Amino acid sequence: MRPRVYITRRLPDAVLSSIEAECEIRMWNESDIPVPREVLEKEIVNADGLFCLLTESIDRALLEKAEKLKVVSNMAVGYNNIDIEAAKEKGITVTNTPGVLTETTADLTFALMMAAARRIVESSDYLRNGKWQTWSPMQLTGQDIYGATLGIIGMGRIGASLAKRAKGFDMKILYHNRSRKETIEQELDIRFEELDSLLEKSDFICILTPYTPETKNLIGERELSLMKKTAVLINTARGGIVNEHDLYHALKEGEIWSAGLDVFEEEPVALDHPLLTLPNVTAIPHIGSASIQTRTRMAELAAENLLLALKQRTPKHVVV
Ligand code: GLV
Repeated sequence: MRPRVYITRRLPDAVLSSIEAECEIRMWNESDIPVPREVLEKEIVNADGLFCLLTESIDRALLEKAEKLKVVSNMAVGYNNIDIEAAKEKGITVTNTPGVLTETTADLTFALMMAAARRIVESSDYLRNGKWQTWSPMQLTGQDIYGATLGIIGMGRIGASLAKRAKGFDMKILYHNRSRKETIEQELDIRFEELDSLLEKSDFICILTPYTPETKNLIGERELSLMKKTAVLINTARGGIVNEHDLYHALKEGEIWSAGLDVFEEEPVALDHPLLTLPNVTAIPHIGSASIQTRTRMAELAAENLLLALKQRTPKHVVV
């Protein structure tokens, strides 16, 4: 019998066909609305495989209902939406899609850094809202990127790719990571710093670390108070790594200069969220990996992982 697969969002046709060639599929056939929890709870009962996105919470309660499930294939590099311990206990393979999104996410992180430093979105709104009366010396002035110090928190694949881009801007690069990355240090001429000292020395701070119990609220009131008043904070990892309440106050009181946020504690972020009232916040809707090419590659890789696991072969990227 062909394995049964549940897919939680409409996928590109070619990817769908590759799964359909080997499996019976059921799919949440919407592109902009996540599958309701009660539908997922019903569908998971008979599924051998699940193809899901970071918008679905694959928690213990859901996995308890999954009597036949062999694999959860997440179309994302981050897998904080999945209860890995529960999956392990139940012998369910979990896969993710690292590698294929590295350069695209590093591009976006650099773009967001430039946007937050040079007030690109605020300036565009200024023009469109008819506020542009004249050129004046200090109007909409930002922070220099070229030659500044960049502190990268999380020196994984994306962190290293960001460092390569920053070298082209003659930035001095510091990093903090759970473990030292000596090869990358030599290759890219970057320096390891303890977290507090990185926060004190950096003009730009980019967060690129996975979201785990250890990194939850990694950046809060104390950490923000260590940063320069001119610091620009960029988060393209996960919202919960920065305490949003503390960030709001630091930005409002001018304790740091600006922030570029691609991720939020709750997504989609509520339109009345205090952070969205601040002109020194550049906010975008979790688009780090959103190029046509990369999203297609992620979907293909997630499909490949799923199919390999269902054939009891080793998927390309196994989390557990
Ligand atoms: C996106 O945030 C991902 O984890 O792939």
